Amino acid sequence: MQSNSNQEQQIKKDLKKEEVLELIDQNDSNKDNLIPILHAIQDKYNYLPKNALEIVSKYLEIPMANIYGVATFYTRFSLKPKGKYTISVCMGTACYVKGAQNIVDKLCKELNVKVGETTDDMIFTLETARCIGSCGLAPALMIDDKVYAKVHPNDIIRILSEYR
Ligand code: FES
Repeated sequence: MQSNSNQEQQIKKDLKKEEVLELIDQNDSNKDNLIPILHAIQDKYNYLPKNALEIVSKYLEIPMANIYGVATFYTRFSLKPKGKYTISVCMGTACYVKGAQNIVDKLCKELNVKVGETTDDMIFTLETARCIGSCGLAPALMIDDKVYAKVHPNDIIRILSEYR
């Protein structure tokens, strides 16, 4: 698979300064709107590219350290390239004892990634999570906001096909 830095370089190449400035303008070019601006950047690129943050920093005169402070505080934001869909496999106790690791292993194999990585086609990012609040449905995983219950490794190909 491509390394995250290769993926980042590709996205950097694609990222246009005007696009970022437009997102800033849509939020009144107001430094009080930093969080909505970061949301808009995250939505557009699926993560917060460093050079986009530099543009925000320069244009709104906000120190990079402050922007990073906000970006790392909210789990919604990612500083690494992310896929279109995020798969979160629950590794909480109930799911773990019911075979969550087998689900992770199957996903790693099918997607050719490790946990925390993104597929070459930028479709999926694979993550693990603590209890996602569906213990009665263990083992469970989420793809974005959709919960999949009582998942068996043999279900993985079918589940992924919903998104490919
Ligand atoms: S432990 Fe997996 S949903 Fe609670």
